[in-house]
Amino acid sequence: MSKIKNIVVLTGAGISAESGIRTFRDTGGLWEDHSIEEVATPQGYADNPELVLGFYNARRAQLSKVEPNAAHIALAKLEAGLMERGGLLTIVTQNVDDLHERGGAKNIIHMHGELLSQWCRVCDRKFKSAEAFTLQSQCPKCESIGKVRPDIVWFGEMPYFMDTIEAHIQNCDLFVSIGTSGAVYPAAGYVQVARGLGKQTLEINLEPSEGSYLFHESRLGKAGEMVPAWVDEILGLL
Ligand code: OAD
Ligand code: ZN
Repeated sequence: MSKIKNIVVLTGAGISAESGIRTFRDTGGLWEDHSIEEVATPQGYADNPELVLGFYNARRAQLSKVEPNAAHIALAKLEAGLMERGGLLTIVTQNVDDLHERGGAKNIIHMHGELLSQWCRVCDRKFKSAEAFTLQSQCPKCESIGKVRPDIVWFGEMPYFMDTIEAHIQNCDLFVSIGTSGAVYPAAGYVQVARGLGKQTLEINLEPSEGSYLFHESRLGKAGEMVPAWVDEILGLL
């Protein structure tokens, strides 16, 4: 453990659960009472864009009512601690919330997009916005009406930054997965990528994930308690 310099942390909905954002799979396949097909697929958007826009508007509005928890804050502390020692923490998150940023971390890769980012399907430009979007909304870049969609990766679409993520895994000494069920690929396969490259691997989750057996070590418990303890351990060991 003493040689650990670069760490890649993959996070999922479980790290935001204690902030009050519901996870996906503990709600029986429903996301805030909608099926994944309805609100998280290109087909769902084509069938009922108004419903999908409204759904993400509600998720976006929820962000101002939640706060980062001890796990997000501990990862920011780890980032600063590794940087002081010439190392690097890369947070690869499947979450579309902004709690890692608000917890103070800087090096964050949103592989499934962000609630605070919008994507215009006419000019293809992306822009940050905390506003609600409807079929009457205008793209601030090209002024088209009703063609701005959430910049969220839906099922059947390619996650973002996959090459960058694999390069960071290649350069890391330790790969850690926090608060993810390990049910959605390619994120769920990163532990295998890390193992294939001979990296150390650790899982921190409330319960064993689907790929739990692939990790060298699995620590079970709440992220808000387990992550700060693990960070102190790592920083104390360096
Ligand atoms: P899931 O809802 O599938 O899994 C959340 C995991 O977090 C579960 O294994 C829980 O046991 C665990 N968990 C819950 N509370 C926790 C806590 N307080 N501390 C630690 N762990 C806790 O969420 P993800 O794995 O993030 O994709 O789901 C992956 C992707 O599937 C999401 O990014 C989303 C979804 O459909 C897209 O939207 C594209
Ligand atoms: Zn546009």
